[in-house]
Amino acid sequence: MKTSLKIGNLTVSPPVLSAPMAGYTNYAYRELLRRLGGVGLIATEMVSARAFVYMGARGLGEPERLWGVQDEPRPLAVQIWDNCPETLEELAGKLARDFKASVVDLNFGCPAPAIAKRSASGSYLLRDPEKVGKLVGRVVKACYPTPTTAKIRLGLTADAINARDVAQAVEGAGGAALTVHGRTARQMYAGDADWDEIAKVKTTLRSIPLIGNGDIKTAEQAVERLERYPVDGIMIGRAGLDRPWLFREIERLLHGETPEPEPTLLEQRELLLDHFQLVLKRFGSELGVTLMRRFAVCYSKGRPGGRNFRNKISRVSSEQEFLNVVSSEFIVKPTEN
Ligand SMILES: Cc1cc2nc3c(=O)[nH]c(=O)nc-3n(C[C@H](O)[C@H](O)[C@H](O)COP(=O)(O)O)c2cc1C
Repeated sequence: MKTSLKIGNLTVSPPVLSAPMAGYTNYAYRELLRRLGGVGLIATEMVSARAFVYMGARGLGEPERLWGVQDEPRPLAVQIWDNCPETLEELAGKLARDFKASVVDLNFGCPAPAIAKRSASGSYLLRDPEKVGKLVGRVVKACYPTPTTAKIRLGLTADAINARDVAQAVEGAGGAALTVHGRTARQMYAGDADWDEIAKVKTTLRSIPLIGNGDIKTAEQAVERLERYPVDGIMIGRAGLDRPWLFREIERLLHGETPEPEPTLLEQRELLLDHFQLVLKRFGSELGVTLMRRFAVCYSKGRPGGRNFRNKISRVSSEQEFLNVVSSEFIVKPTEN
């Protein structure tokens, strides 16, 4: 059984990574994940290298998404995006030297129009493996010895799957690991992640680890992906928002320990409230409540009474209202009260 992987000199154990997710994997969520355990490597939200350079040049401080990064526990991967070598190089160098990031990850997968269309970055760059290689090479140099990794999709469209070419470019330029989300950019999040296509990428890589990503929802699925596919690790995004204790479950299963029972709905509610406190501490009351509404929606997915809870929690506008809705509506069956 695969129980760890190496990214440069960094040992990632278990070989289970939490995915970067803009709007979600903020400082508070990362703190929650660390408390719960089971994540081998935690990633930030993607950070705009252009915004970092722009703000720095005008004395405007740093992008919000870098808040806390300097001091938080390690290991930590900081994901960055742009299409300009100088800009990426500047941020990557700072992240390695001043922020002491464990890993600098380059985003070549984001299909959102603001990134891919309007900024010709993220998944837009998949059309040009050579350019990807150049960007990776510059960042590798700028952060050495801190490892540089890349996160990609299968390609732009089903007719243009070129993850193997991109993988070769990333490894050839000195990238230390590659994560492949098994969808094309055109798919956005529709359809299923194609793990057979992810597996094909392994045939091109010479020595760096391949991390498979897409649609893992349970601990059993996680272990199955690791066993059945030639990947060195897996990365999980959305299921970690719905069930943040999932990583711990996977770790137990990987070590052959008896699985813990799923937290009761009451325990899940306690966790949601703990998460709320972390978010309030980090973001303050107003922004904290707004942000936490979307996390609360995730916690309620697939739970009894979830729809009713979601309707109500999406409308709250104060801390007290949030707490009221959670205590009256968070899906606790009468027997558990
Ligand atoms: C709300 C949201 C935000 C995301 N933001 C990022 C991001 O900042 N960088 C990135 O590389 N991928 C981002 N992704 C993609 C995820 O990292 C991951 O590749 C995708 O969700 C598939 O994995 P999953 O099925 O385990 O969620 C985002 C996905 C979602 C749902």
